[in-house]
Amino acid sequence: MSDQNFNIKVFDSYQEIGDFVRSILLADVVSGSFNIALSGGRTPRSVFSHLSEHKKPHIKWDMIKFFWGDERCVPPDHADSNFLMAKESLFNNIDIADDQIFRIKGENNPDAEKERYKMTVLSNTNGIFDLMLLGLGSDGHTASIFPNRMDLLGSKEVCGVAIHPDSGQTRITLTGPVINNSRKILFLVTGSEKSQIVYEILYRKGEWDKYPASYIKPVDGELIWILDRKAAICI
Ligand code: 6PG
Repeated sequence: MSDQNFNIKVFDSYQEIGDFVRSILLADVVSGSFNIALSGGRTPRSVFSHLSEHKKPHIKWDMIKFFWGDERCVPPDHADSNFLMAKESLFNNIDIADDQIFRIKGENNPDAEKERYKMTVLSNTNGIFDLMLLGLGSDGHTASIFPNRMDLLGSKEVCGVAIHPDSGQTRITLTGPVINNSRKILFLVTGSEKSQIVYEILYRKGEWDKYPASYIKPVDGELIWILDRKAAICI
C-alpha cells in the first residue's frame, strides 16, 4: 500500500455511490455556506441523478454553492458542457437558486475566463473548497490536468487553460494546489477500463508518477477513492 493517506470505498452500483455521497452531504452540510466543486464526465452524471432523488432526510441544498473543477470551452447548452450535465442530472431535480451556481463560462475567451473564474473562486471560497469531486481519465488525468501538463499540479495560479491531448478541446481547470487545498476530495471512478490505472496510482506501481491524479493529496483534508467493483478489481 502506498504511503498516501486515503480511504477506499467500493460499491456495487451508482445508486450506492450516490447514497454514499448523500451521506457525506448530510453530515457535512450543516451550517453556513458550503462550497462544492463538481467534476465532469460520464461517472458523475449517474451519481448526480441518484444523489438528487427526493429522499429523507433532505440535503440542505440551499446552503450549497456549486462550482466546477473544470469545464470544456463550449457554450452552456453544448452537449459537452459539464454545467449542462449537472443541470440535467442534478439542478433540474433539486430546489436551488441561480445565484448558488458559479459555472465556468465556457463560451468566453479561455484566457479571460481563467481570470474571471479565478476571482469568482477567490471571492466566494478563499480558494478552499469544502468538497471537491474528481473523476479519473484512463490516461490518469483529473479535472483537466492532463499528463502533458504536469506543470498545472504545482501552478501558483488558481486556474489554468489546457488542451485535451486527444480531442484538442480547450478546457479551463482548477490547478493542483487549489484542488489539494480542499477539505475533502472524492474521486468517483467506475468501469473496468480504469481498474489498472487505479491500481497503479493507489499502489505506486507502473507509471504512476506520470499520472496527474497520483499527485492529488489534500494538504489538510480527507481523500476518499469511491470505486465501483469493476474499477476496484485490481486492488
Ligand atoms: C471532464 C472531467 C474529467 C473526467 C474524467 C473521467 O471534464 O471530462 O472533469 O476529468 O472526470 O475524464 O470521466 P468519466 O467519468 O467519464 O470516465
